[in-house]
Parts: sequence; C-alpha cells; structure tokens
Amino acid sequence: MKDRSAVVLANERVADGVMKMTLKFDDLPQIEGGQFVHVRVPDGAHVLRRPFCICDFDKEERTIDICYAVVGAGTARLAEVRRMERLDALLPLGNGYVPEGGKVLLIGGGMGSAVLPAIVTAHPDKEYTVCLGFGDASKVVLVEELEKKGAKVILATDNGSAGEKGYVTDVAARIIRADRPDEIFCCGPEIIYKILAKKEEIAGIPTKISLEQRMGCGIGACLVCNCKVKRAGGEEYVRVCKDGPVFDIGEVAL
Ligand SMILES: Cc1cc2nc3c(=O)[nH]c(=O)nc-3n(C[C@H](O)[C@H](O)[C@H](O)COP(=O)(O)OP(=O)(O)OC[C@H]3O[C@@H](n4cnc5c(N)ncnc54)[C@H](O)[C@@H]3O)c2cc1C
Ligand code: FES
Repeated sequence: MKDRSAVVLANERVADGVMKMTLKFDDLPQIEGGQFVHVRVPDGAHVLRRPFCICDFDKEERTIDICYAVVGAGTARLAEVRRMERLDALLPLGNGYVPEGGKVLLIGGGMGSAVLPAIVTAHPDKEYTVCLGFGDASKVVLVEELEKKGAKVILATDNGSAGEKGYVTDVAARIIRADRPDEIFCCGPEIIYKILAKKEEIAGIPTKISLEQRMGCGIGACLVCNCKVKRAGGEEYVRVCKDGPVFDIGEVAL
C-alpha cells in the first residue's frame, strides 16, 4: 500500500446522487475485491481522506473505478472534480475478499453494491449470482457492469420501480434455497446484515460481510474504526480498516 497520484479519466453521474469516477495510476498494485481506496479531497479543507470501495479495476489500463453517493461536503467536492485533474489515493487498503467455492452468491444493498464488480474481475473463474437491492429505480447502479462480466443479476427495489418489488434479503433467501451457493458475500447497510444473520437459509454456508465504519487514518494507526468481534470463545476489538473490512457474519456483534 502506498500513496499514489492518479489522473481522473472520468467522473460522471450514474444515478440519482451517485457518481462514478475512473482513476488512472502510473502503476497499479495487485487488488482483491473488497479492498478500498482512501482518497484525499482536493481542497485542503478536509484533513481526513474519504474511504471508497474499489468498485472495479483494469490491470492493463492501470485504472480503478469508484462509485460513490454524494452525502456530505467531501463527496460533494469530489463530484466537482474534472477530467484530467489529479487526486492522491492510498491503495489498496483492507483485507479484501477472495471467493473459494465455485458457486458464489453476492448480495449488494444500495451503495454497498459498489464493492461487487471488483470481486468478479479479480476471480472471473467462479459462477456468480448477484442480488442487488435499491430503494427505487433512480438509485440503481452497476447492473450492466455485472452482467457484462457474466454474472447472473437479480435486481429488486423496495417499491418495485425496477426489477422485483421487495427487499434484497428476501430475494437472496429465495436464491439460497433454490441454488445452495458454496459461499455468500454481502455488502450494504447494517440492517441488511442483521436480517441476513437471522435467515435460516444461510446456515452452514460461509457468509462474509463488509463493514462500513467511520474512518480516520485508514491504515490501522488511529483506532477510530474499532469494532467488537467474537473470536476464540471471547470478544476482542479489531480495526475495520486493517483487520477488515471483510468479516465472517457470525463474528460481528450486529
Ligand atoms: C471501507 C469503506 C468503503 C466505503 N465505500 C463506499 C463506496 O464505495 N461508495 C460510497 O458511496 N460510500 C462508501 N463509503 C462511505 C463513504 O466513505 C462516505 O459516504 C464518505 O466518506 C462521506 O464523506 P462526506 O465528506 O461526503 O460526508 P460527511 O460529511 O463525512 O458525512 C455525511 C454523512 O455520511 C455519513 N457517513 C460518512 N462516512 C460514513 C461511513 N464510513 N459509513 C457510513 N456513513 C458515513 C455520515 O454519518 C453523514 O450522515 C465507504 C466507507 C468505508 C468505511
Ligand atoms: S481508521 Fe485509523 S485505525 Fe482504522
């Protein structure tokens, strides 16, 4: 991991309040899906960098994509960045997720979906089914990108304005019953993890989740991102940025 200067090749609106940015580097290290990048907001006003999942990457082109919701001052400034401007980015950070089984179910809730394409890019030899859930059609992202990679995508929205009507956790439970994947990876708001953890369908299937904690340094030094996990019969604190963000669903206190 090191701090790199990147050229912005694109920074475009892809859904309501959501941008996709492509960053090109002089050299790109090996990346696993589930890892993240810590981006410096280019205004001198924001001391803390902002963390984003590495949404996708292209080793040959030496590019990564990030897909981000504009929620506050930092992301609003990033949304103004123009093509060919430079940004500082620390990457790759975090443990990432390496699928081991042949049949993998990926579940994305809202902006949590942004982590999924890179998993397929890093390990294209698996059979992926992807359940994506969004509030409504205006928020839907990344369906075509995942389909182009050969994943089977099932889309759901809370109000049925795109794809099936319903919650992604219910859609995922149905797919698990029908297909029995070898493993499950889920990224989204904490409520999704709470609901998924209670679904009897996941019993016996290794299930990983990715935590989104407020972060300071992003490299394990400040302890801002501490989180309690159950391990070896007891509880211990881990740093989400360094020891995670990917954990077994059973070890996180949800
Ligand atoms: C490992 C990791 C990966 C992430 N990946 C993505 C991604 O791919 N796409 C994406 O859109 N966002 C992602 N986030 C969240 C993103 O970092 C925040 O939305 C962003 O830092 C907000 O910056 P801001 O200055 O615009 O907002 P701020 O002014 O800092 O905050 C505005 C609002 O966003 C909330 N917020 C800020 N940081 C977080 C956070 N870490 N988790 C949850 N809510 C937060 C605040 O509570 C507040 O309500 C990720 C966070 C982590 C920790
Ligand atoms: S953000 Fe500093 S230790 Fe995790």
